[in-house]
Amino acid sequence: MKYSTLLILGLILTVALMSEAKSKSKKQKNKQNGILPMAEPCKPSKCKLPDCRCSDAALPTSKFQGKENQIPQFVTITFDDAVNAVNFAQYELLFDGLINPDGCGAAGTFFLSHEYTDYVRVNALYRAGHEIALHSVTHGDGTDYWRSADVPTIEREFGAQLKMLETFAKVNPKKIQGMRLPFLQISGNNTFEAARRLGLTYDSSWPTQKFKDPAMWPYTLDYKSKQDCQIGPCPEASIPGFWVNPMVTWTDTEGYSCSMIDACVYPPEDDMDELFDWMMENFNRHYLGNRAPFGMYLHAAWFSRGRNYFGAFKKFINHLNTYSDVYFTGISRMLEYVRKPTLGSPFKDCPDLPEAECRAVQCHVQKMSTGEERYMTVCDKCPSVYPWLDNPLGQQL
Ligand SMILES: *[C@@H]1O[C@H](CO)[C@@H](O)[C@H](O)[C@H]1NC(C)=O
Ligand SMILES: [Zn+2]
Repeated sequence: MKYSTLLILGLILTVALMSEAKSKSKKQKNKQNGILPMAEPCKPSKCKLPDCRCSDAALPTSKFQGKENQIPQFVTITFDDAVNAVNFAQYELLFDGLINPDGCGAAGTFFLSHEYTDYVRVNALYRAGHEIALHSVTHGDGTDYWRSADVPTIEREFGAQLKMLETFAKVNPKKIQGMRLPFLQISGNNTFEAARRLGLTYDSSWPTQKFKDPAMWPYTLDYKSKQDCQIGPCPEASIPGFWVNPMVTWTDTEGYSCSMIDACVYPPEDDMDELFDWMMENFNRHYLGNRAPFGMYLHAAWFSRGRNYFGAFKKFINHLNTYSDVYFTGISRMLEYVRKPTLGSPFKDCPDLPEAECRAVQCHVQKMSTGEERYMTVCDKCPSVYPWLDNPLGQQL
């Protein structure tokens, strides 16, 4: 080889190496700055179960086409905010006697916030097989706080709550998989990046009006979401393997969409039959449609809105419990199914009830920031001060 050829080859090699080094350092920088890869449009041929699903109303697999009525219908009942003695009694009554068609106990999901929560009752819900999930420590002052929350803020709010639930309610943190933002206010990529860093597997804060008939199935954020962004900013980055359980809206009596049952502006009158029929109408959009999981999202306070609200709700779920293909489960159990969908009975086994012994203690502690007194019921041992964001175990500082 001639010297000049060698020189040119050498030059090419040097330039190639330099540009590789450059792109490497750019990638590293992006990682350090927390710049995430942009989500690309989803192609079903590239995004496959169990760990990837495009955002749409398609059946879990095209093989289910024409067999919609053999897809198990999941119903996910969720309650937000503090669990206390009063609403705990309602939750017990509500789920009392409900057994799924496979013989496993029916369950709901509790998105807990910290203040005024009775951790001994959280422990009881957990041991009864319900799903415990996160709704932040402080619940925040309003939507601005959450709309602009950066990754560390969200990690702190939800990470501190994980610690509190482990310490005061004996909930195994590995069993805590989901979150819902207060006011359903997400903050774009940040919410989902923080959730992923915390080791969570799903978020259920994102309402959809566009995909209610047919309804959207849960999906992952590997690729760009097609979901309508009702309370933005919504994520644009790719968060591989992280699930969104969309809050498929209900329709009230005037035709308006509501992300949560208690957010419906025109619910029916306080009448058992009217309330019951209204719930059936909303349910049937899913059950007689593509069988996308049917969410019943509310706060326990809804039961106090009228004489018949609790009764109608109970009548409705008791009625669904007579169906041979309707399953009441926590969201994470439902997602297990969505990852590995089958026709007919969805699971091989019932989940084991967790062992989490709890000796109830009543505590009277002070909130450091304001000096307010707080009563708090926890498992085993009282904290020294009222637990909060920067001191989740309530230690004497
Ligand atoms: C979200 O991440 C994408 C990809 O890195 C970026 O283009 C976009 O600006 C980010 N959005 C916000 C609000 O930070
Ligand atoms: Zn709330």
